Amino acid sequence: MVRISRRGALALLGGGGVLAGLAATGGARALAAAGPPEVRPPLPRARLLDADEPLRAGRAVFSGGQEGFGYNGGIPGPTIRLRNGDAFARRVENLMDQPTTVHWHGLVAPQDMDGQPHDEIAAGSGRDYAFPIRQRAGLNWYHPHPHGTTAAQAWYGLAGFFVIEDEEEAALGLPSGDQELFLVIRDAQSAAGGMFGYVADIAGTEGEVPMVNGVAWPRTTLARGFARLRILNGANARVFRLRSQAALTVIGNDGGLIDTPQPVDEIEMAPGERVDVLMDLRGFEPGATVGLNCNAAGWPMLEIEVTEGPETGWEIPGHLSEIETLVHSGEPDRTFVFQENERINGEVYEMNRIDFIVPFGAVERWRFASARGAPHPIHVHGAHFQVLEGTVPNGGVRAVRPWERGWKDTVNVRTHETVDVLVRFDVYEGRYLLHCHKLEHEDHGMMMNFVVSRNPDEARKRAELERLY
Ligand code: C2O
Ligand code: CU
Repeated sequence: MVRISRRGALALLGGGGVLAGLAATGGARALAAAGPPEVRPPLPRARLLDADEPLRAGRAVFSGGQEGFGYNGGIPGPTIRLRNGDAFARRVENLMDQPTTVHWHGLVAPQDMDGQPHDEIAAGSGRDYAFPIRQRAGLNWYHPHPHGTTAAQAWYGLAGFFVIEDEEEAALGLPSGDQELFLVIRDAQSAAGGMFGYVADIAGTEGEVPMVNGVAWPRTTLARGFARLRILNGANARVFRLRSQAALTVIGNDGGLIDTPQPVDEIEMAPGERVDVLMDLRGFEPGATVGLNCNAAGWPMLEIEVTEGPETGWEIPGHLSEIETLVHSGEPDRTFVFQENERINGEVYEMNRIDFIVPFGAVERWRFASARGAPHPIHVHGAHFQVLEGTVPNGGVRAVRPWERGWKDTVNVRTHETVDVLVRFDVYEGRYLLHCHKLEHEDHGMMMNFVVSRNPDEARKRAELERLY
């Protein structure tokens, strides 16, 4: 049994099931290799969550034989796919030996449906989630969010995709079916240390091998033509810089489609961020191999074999989506300085403290400034935001990166950078979270509670009262 304590420390119970599992399968050795194995394992594709199937957080086994956690036994868990306007309703059961919550990252949900640390699901119990989907098409995801143990639970495999579709996106005729890949990229500990273990590092735990959809160094096939790669950085702390021999064009991110296609050489992705990318395989002969590589780690993460495909004549549309531009001409309304491994503006998170109040419906300008301990991928619950220019350490301009156009819910702030964002909370009132998505930073307190209210003065008074208890 994998046992995770409040601070993420790991203990093995019952004779070391994880170790025994490794020894029995030999999967450890494949993982320990410094590079990909000669024959790469096939890339698993997540299945869809069945109509009335509850989401079950419980044990799962990685393809290398390592024991971990997963939703419904899979890594990633089953994909939830809905349309804008649908109602989402699902029971979540916690089959683990420790409390958890499920947060729908990227979905704008009422406070009590948001899976916040305040709403733990005790071991052995369940919770019903239901809320309307009121947002544009995009790649969202679900993952645990219990305070202090998010990093460990995520490390052991709890994550799944939550896809929203709409008419604007459907009209583009983007590659679909076998030509659309959903990829959760992350790193994992090699077996060299003796197990697929989580070792909490407050600065951000990183692993020695790349994993895509729960498998180290996988391979897959794609037909000649365009492919749509929908990628989530599901790592605890690692930033990826993705490249390929094939031309890559960014068409979307956390908040769905961007305005116009952006050809790129490289895509930087911090934990929690998503990108929607078209890979142009038209110029490759069947049998050719193309990689999805990480330039930062020097990893050929995913090997793609090009197969014969039908000539579709489809071209990337010149215009993708109509994006409303938020406007705010003033100075920042709030500045958040992310410090070391656990503090925002000098404070460590407290679950029962409300840190600030945001007026409902107002466009606010927030400045994210990163002191040490960066990069800090900053994530906001309850709304999406638009990224503006910022500054880099030498005083130069931090331009909006191609994958930061449109709407975002997570933005990566490097050391001594500032990034300004415009945000408007206009769907729900209630308590939401702002935090670093480097999960060890989050667990150690780089997080704030804020309340969105139509009546900020009243909310401020109430928050003060709550603080006394
Ligand atoms: Cu993906 Cu508050 O988290
Ligand atoms: Cu951080």
